[in-house]
Amino acid sequence: MTDAPYALQASGLTKVYRVGFFLNRQVVALRGLELSVEPGQIYGLLGPNGAGKSTTLKILMNLVQPTSGTAALFGHAPGHAATRRHVGFLPENPAPYEYLTGLEFVTLAGRLAGLSGKELDDRVQAVLGQVDLSHAQKLQVRRYSKGMVQRLALAQAIVHSPQLLVLDEPTSGLDPLGRRQMRDLILEQRARGATVLFCTHIIPDVEALCDRVVVLVGGKRVREGRVQELVGNEGNTLELTVEGLHRGQAEALGVPAADIRELEGRLLLRVPDASAQGLLRVLLDAGARVTRIQPARFTLEELFMQTVKEAGAGSSVGGEMSL
Ligand SMILES: Nc1ncnc2c1ncn2[C@@H]1O[C@H](COP(=O)(O)OP(=O)(O)O)[C@@H](O)[C@H]1O
Ligand SMILES: [Mg+2]
Repeated sequence: MTDAPYALQASGLTKVYRVGFFLNRQVVALRGLELSVEPGQIYGLLGPNGAGKSTTLKILMNLVQPTSGTAALFGHAPGHAATRRHVGFLPENPAPYEYLTGLEFVTLAGRLAGLSGKELDDRVQAVLGQVDLSHAQKLQVRRYSKGMVQRLALAQAIVHSPQLLVLDEPTSGLDPLGRRQMRDLILEQRARGATVLFCTHIIPDVEALCDRVVVLVGGKRVREGRVQELVGNEGNTLELTVEGLHRGQAEALGVPAADIRELEGRLLLRVPDASAQGLLRVLLDAGARVTRIQPARFTLEELFMQTVKEAGAGSSVGGEMSL
């Protein structure tokens, strides 16, 4: 299965949902999406609510049929029988059967993925341990916390050691500890050689986890690239935090207005490395207090906001993002 150059590929994916009582209204969820994911990567699909992320994942999982376009997993169409055993899926807001115990639920998932006998039992115990649920495996799922449910759902997705993991908003709704655990588990999957595609509206998760990311707005791909390239293109810029200086004074010192941000009575100035030393002297002479100097990061957040603006936000594309 790994012979295909791409773990995942989508070309010209378009999805139009028909809604309304007479199915006479249309919602365009995807508009010609292109996607190529190389094996061994963690690939992020980032976008606001309604961007078409879940629709994309559902098409890949053969849960939704595209209106047009094609998708392939390891070179096979999403419905291909052989693919099932190589793919694990964590749906958005997973709802495992709540009267099963965690153990029963993961065992069921393993069996559906083709495991049996001792191999099944061993794998179930291994993944329950991995997601830190060994102690709760005999409890019914309805007694689980949100974080435990999410980890259990991940356990069912990885019980058969799939080559490809598809995760829909794996960290949303989790507390900081839960989010951290989930991030670590996702990194473990890449470490064992799996390819991970996950979608999220949580920018820090993309920065923490992804090798590459595609930014999706209004069903369209608006950016794609290595996370480092997308966020790191201001590598030679410093960010100075300054107190006792007004915006007007900073502008008079030659800092472009776009590179000045006001934050709780302080100014954040973005300055090219080359001119930073000179500016520092001038700032100090002007009686300002420089309280912090750090390399500026052009955050994915800023990139995202800019991209949404360019894509004509305000209407259907301006969903909520977690920063
Ligand atoms: N089953 C459906 N029927 C009708 N419209 C849908 C359905 N699923 C999603 N949509 C619409 O398609 C758009 C994209 O939804 P979705 O793929 O869930 O986005 P995301 O996961 O990025 O929030 C939204 O406008 C949503 O309301
Ligand atoms: Mg979604």
